[in-house]
Amino acid sequence: MRALVAGNWKMNGLAASLAELGALKQALAKTPAACDVLVCPPATLIAQAALLLEEGHVKDAFALGGQDCHAQPSGAFTGDLSAEMLKDAGASYVIVGHSERRQYHGESDGDVAAKARAAWRAGLRAIICLGETDAQRDDGAHHHICSSQLEGSVPEGATPENTVIAYEPVWAIGTGKTPTGEDIAAMHAHIRGCLVRRLGEGARGIAILYGGSVKPDNAREILNLPEVGGALVGGASLKSADFLNVIGAVNPS
Ligand code: PGA
Repeated sequence: MRALVAGNWKMNGLAASLAELGALKQALAKTPAACDVLVCPPATLIAQAALLLEEGHVKDAFALGGQDCHAQPSGAFTGDLSAEMLKDAGASYVIVGHSERRQYHGESDGDVAAKARAAWRAGLRAIICLGETDAQRDDGAHHHICSSQLEGSVPEGATPENTVIAYEPVWAIGTGKTPTGEDIAAMHAHIRGCLVRRLGEGARGIAILYGGSVKPDNAREILNLPEVGGALVGGASLKSADFLNVIGAVNPS
């Protein structure tokens, strides 16, 4: 399975930031990555980023994704964006259920599952996020929390083609803290077990990314752990030089 390194720009990036994507494109055209590469800029930049990728015939240097979508294809939902709109703008992926959406927008597991189904309906691959808070880890409830989020957020019908899971411990996001390699491997094995029990043997091919303070200096260790199929990268995806160092940490298979 080819690894996926995905950048989540969150609410960062103006038109000037397209220069970072230009640099990323040039670098990957020169030295192709040993993994699939995805950038999820703010939705305002997706169409411009797609145009940039079409110039110079390096369209496949990296894919584009949205950071959230509404469950409905269209309608009276002021301020929201549908999965179809993201696809139309040039996205092939969308992140759903990021902890910042769950926390600041009160998204439930059911909401996340509906968004994942919307992604599939539009022909996008859904990156479904889950992860425990620090209090939940301190209580020893992290495995239970993640299986229950997975149960509620990953719809029946998830396949390696339409779905990626991202394990992102909330306490590791943007903090510079990460779980130990052993803890990450244990959680990924747990998630794999839950996926297979729920969806059958076909779920062995669903990539499980790790996210939360992945940086150039810890990427190699994390990306080499068993069952880690790639990384979801926030802060270190904003500058092409950092992001390229994370991408470069993937061993050619
Ligand atoms: P971080 O964010 O890499 O800045 O910790 C990861 C994420 O929230 O996806």
